[in-house]
Amino acid sequence: MSDVVSVRKDGEVAVVTIDNPPVNALGHAVRSGVYEAMAGLRDDADVKAVVLACAGRTFSAGADITEFGKPPQPPALFELINAVEDMPKPVVAAMHGTALGGGFELALGCHYRVADSKARVGLPEVKLGLLPGAGGTQRLPRLIGPEEALKIIVSGDFVGADKALKLGIVDEVTDGDVNEAALELARRLAADGTGPVRLSDRDDKLQAVKADDTAFNETAGKLTARARGLEAPHACVEAVRWSFELPFEEGLTKEREKFMELVAGDQSKAQRHIFFAEREASKVSDMPKGTTPREVKTVGVIGAGTMGGGISMNFANVGIPVTIVETSQEALDRGFATIEKNYRISVSRGRMSEEELKVRMSRLTGTTDMSDLADADFIIEAVFEEMDIKKDIFGKLDAIAKPGAVLASNTSYLDIDEIAAATNRPGSVLGTHFFSPANVMRLMEIVRGEKTDFDVLATAIDLGRKIRKVPVVVGVCFGFVGNRMLKARQLQTEQLLLEGATPQQVDKAITDFGFPMGPFAMGDLAGLDIGWRIRKHVGADAEGGRAEIADALCEMGRFGQKTGRGFYIYEKGARGGTPDPEVEALIVETAKRFGIERREIGSEEIVERLIYPMISEGAKILEEGIAQRSGDIDVVWIYGYGFPIWRGGPMFYADQVGLAHIRDRLDFYAEQTGNDALRPAPLLQKLADEGAGFASLAGKKVRAA
Ligand code: CAA
Repeated sequence: MSDVVSVRKDGEVAVVTIDNPPVNALGHAVRSGVYEAMAGLRDDADVKAVVLACAGRTFSAGADITEFGKPPQPPALFELINAVEDMPKPVVAAMHGTALGGGFELALGCHYRVADSKARVGLPEVKLGLLPGAGGTQRLPRLIGPEEALKIIVSGDFVGADKALKLGIVDEVTDGDVNEAALELARRLAADGTGPVRLSDRDDKLQAVKADDTAFNETAGKLTARARGLEAPHACVEAVRWSFELPFEEGLTKEREKFMELVAGDQSKAQRHIFFAEREASKVSDMPKGTTPREVKTVGVIGAGTMGGGISMNFANVGIPVTIVETSQEALDRGFATIEKNYRISVSRGRMSEEELKVRMSRLTGTTDMSDLADADFIIEAVFEEMDIKKDIFGKLDAIAKPGAVLASNTSYLDIDEIAAATNRPGSVLGTHFFSPANVMRLMEIVRGEKTDFDVLATAIDLGRKIRKVPVVVGVCFGFVGNRMLKARQLQTEQLLLEGATPQQVDKAITDFGFPMGPFAMGDLAGLDIGWRIRKHVGADAEGGRAEIADALCEMGRFGQKTGRGFYIYEKGARGGTPDPEVEALIVETAKRFGIERREIGSEEIVERLIYPMISEGAKILEEGIAQRSGDIDVVWIYGYGFPIWRGGPMFYADQVGLAHIRDRLDFYAEQTGNDALRPAPLLQKLADEGAGFASLAGKKVRAA
């Protein structure tokens, strides 16, 4: 028998078990193992029913993603599933953990499904730029109706056992041992002589939609409304439609063809890259094996402003109590009111109950006395970006916090080593940089200081995962990975205005590229006054460099959406802003003052001028060892700044475009504008000269030293 698939007999029932840690992915060895096992049991007269189970922490998580793009080895997953469905005796799937993608499709090929009460099922292929390619789009609609199937397939969301039972996805849910329950069902089926129930034979659930597909179309429209630029959600809708428009076999063939097309396409390659990059990003190459995180039962947050409040919500959401410190009761009250208002939005949208809101709020305690943090295991400072204030707070924390507590700063730019030096325990200090809105954005840059202890780093990574963030470990430099690259972009945004573009042209080029918002609309939303005040306070270098237009707008009291005017005009009740001739006049006048002759600028130049300098900065970040891998940079930009996931992040995108092209264009723009800062970074230059890409650096030490 195969190493990863075993068969044992229990009376008239045979149990086929897949054991392929960590997630029982359906790689070649598993597929052929199950195929052979089923072939052997088919004609075994002593076996009247079969249970298909998985060992370890989960049922199968689907196809082995690492095999995609390599030559296929038979049997293909869809062939295996067809063979299981064709079994002449009942096959019962025993599902625990997460039955996902091809794993769930395998269960749909079985004739009965039993789930453990904590099990979840789902078809997350859409998140990899794919559609379920092993019959899922044809079998699930036959089981629960096309509309319900559509919701699961297009969202890629998981469905818990109870809901799965209600929908009819599973036949039984058990609180006990799922393998025992499946065995029990198989014994009953064998005893009763009940035969297989094949989904491919069923069409009762398709009749209503066949007669009238209005509701199906409406649901499809809603589900794809937010899928800007993505191909897979649309392909999923198309494939589910085939389930009721075409005979089963034909639907299956078309699903297969579409899957092959998507798997070979750039979008899926990009999304698969991010799947693995996301998991890599919190791995620290020099962390000793066996480093264990410190225990975190309580958290302290200093500052109840927008960031402090958002950060605190993450912990309240997962049951970790938070003590929030502010300088006055008034500031605390304001912060708590904002948090409650944010939770109320979830209540009003039906995503949270009133009771749950109360529970979450009860996990938050406010205080104006920092010494109340004496018992906190993990303390995050989220106050104004000024080094002296931060150093003062860390000095005080050092005296207050218990031994072993982790002291973190949410600074978005400042030197963690300098902050750590204000304490007598620099090993316990690091950065945990959240992104606004901090309760929503999934990125968490974990800034590793020169002296940060490994177990402190491990604690922050572990905590980040617990609050469902994507932790990326980065090194110390001004702005770390994300904001440092953003600055490279920001330097070009204003420059483009002076050279001839309008804010709306720039924003459109960037949203057409796939970002949810353009830089000027984003500035208006965040408030132009923030950068303006920092520039005034700390100097132009602090916030994306010189910003003549933004500063002039702020001098006019135009801070963005909150004042009704910024780069755009915001009418009450209107969604988004409209262009303002006054702003254009200001741009023209400023350009004149600097002696810049304005010209027509196309969207291609806008994209290149904004994205390529970011890529070049990313190359410097790699060279300096601030990021460990180019994929880490991609993860930062996707989860912190809305870089379109289907482009795979800036560094993956750069490889797709070709580094030689990027090098040449940067040189061209440096000539055109007389700005040598636009020249390609040495690493970018070197890789381009070698005809290589950032991906070629995987596993190599890039740092020059
Ligand atoms: N193929 C290959 N490797 C996989 C994998 C898969 N389908 N799913 C997970 N892994 C790997 C991860 O990369 C990770 O590897 P490292 O330890 O080397 O980093 C390891 O398994 C454990 O995964 P996680 O760290 O993600 O563990 P978790 O417990 O947090 O989550 C999970 C488990 C929910 C199953 C999650 O891994 C997951 O969502 N996996 C992907 C599921 C998926 O998308 N399935 C569809 C595949 S496509 C398909 O099936 C197409 C088809 O129709 C034919």
